[in-house]
This record gives sequence, C-alpha cells and structure tokens, in this order.
Amino acid sequence: MFITLEGPEGSGKTSQLALLVDFLRQEGYIVLATREPGGTQIGDQIRAVLSDMGNQEMRPRTELLLFQASRAQLVEQVIRPHLQEGGIVLCDRYADSTLAYQGYGHQTFPLEQVQAIISFATGGLKPDLTLLLDVDVKDGLQRRAQGGDWNRLDAYQLEFHQRVRQGYLQMAQAEPQRWVVIDASRSMEAVQMEIREVVLGALAR
Ligand code: TYD
Repeated sequence: MFITLEGPEGSGKTSQLALLVDFLRQEGYIVLATREPGGTQIGDQIRAVLSDMGNQEMRPRTELLLFQASRAQLVEQVIRPHLQEGGIVLCDRYADSTLAYQGYGHQTFPLEQVQAIISFATGGLKPDLTLLLDVDVKDGLQRRAQGGDWNRLDAYQLEFHQRVRQGYLQMAQAEPQRWVVIDASRSMEAVQMEIREVVLGALAR
C-alpha cells in the first residue's frame, strides 16, 4: 500500500508521519518512510539545488523538472521495489505537491501539461491513499517561521500559498476515493489519532 501525506507549509506533516511510522511498526507492519524531494542520494542532491537560497534565477520549468527528476529516481529505486515486496510506503509529499505548488501555485503551465510530466516521471504510479493535512495558510507559515527552517521555497508570497491550499482542496474533492482531508489545526495528538484511524481502516480493506 502506497500512502502519501500532503499539505501546505507548517501543516505538521513531517512530525505526524514520524509518529505514524512508529505506530505502524509497533503494530507489526513493514513500513518504509521517505520524503520528497529527496529520499535517494541523487534526490537529496537535487533537493539541495532546489532549496539553495543562491539559486534565485531558477526558472519555473527548471524547478518543475528537478522535482520530477528527484521523484523518478525515488519511484524506481525505492518505492516500487518496496511495494513489490508487499510493504507499506509512506511518503512525505509526492506528485500532488507538484500539482499544488507548480500547477495551482505558480500557474505558469496548464495543469494537463504538469500532469503529463508527472505521469512520465512516475511511470503512472499513484498513491492508494493520500492524507491532506489542511491548515490555514497564515497559521501554517507562522508555525514554519517559528521552526526556523525558512528556505527559498518558503519565501513566495501569501497568495501563492493560498492558491496551493485551494489546489489541494480541489484535488481532494475531485478524487474523494483516494483523499482524506484532516483538520491539522488541532493538537498533534488529535491529528495523529485521526490519521491512525484512517490508515488502519484503509489497511483493513
Ligand atoms: P520541505 O522542507 O520538505 O517542506 P515541507 O516540510 O513543507 O514538506 O520542502 C519542500 C518544499 O518543496 C515545500 O515548500 C513544497 C515544495 N515542493 C514543490 O514545490 N513541488 C514538489 O513537487 C514537491 C515534492 C515539493
């Protein structure tokens, strides 16, 4: 089973994913946790290029393709082999991040074009379940700034992040059999409990 976590900045995805991994392993599941961009040696190098504050001249096309290059490597090297062995893969961001950020956020390219590039990069691999940790954009950015991890990608203006959030909500609405929207403005514990419930339900099916 392939499960992805998505959400705007500061939605708490990364901490929630770590808690979920521990929980599922305690329950006896074989779980592989990974993240995007990155998750492989090559992917981590691409991640460093993407988050380098010095790369201000990076063009949207370049950015879009770098995310796909990292993803292609991750899918072939890590995700597909683990799924083929019957394991669970949990991924912190995946293709929907590209649609939300490069598609709905930047609005530089038609969504169909972005979808075609994603489909090429992933070889058509889609998640079985996607959890959207939804949080108000201002609250999320504030949480993120307090965390001190403020990189080039965070510097886009508020409206950009608002489009990202709306894009996520639209995708979730369009494909309700895959997406579950989780209100991430609540306490860490409350959010984690709901995530566990949803994931255990999906695994039981
Ligand atoms: P990261 O530090 O992992 O942020 P977060 O904790 O919010 O996941 O940085 C990932 C950034 O890259 C984040 O701003 C979202 C962005 N991103 C895209 O724009 N497109 C993509 O396809 C992916 C995977 C991430």
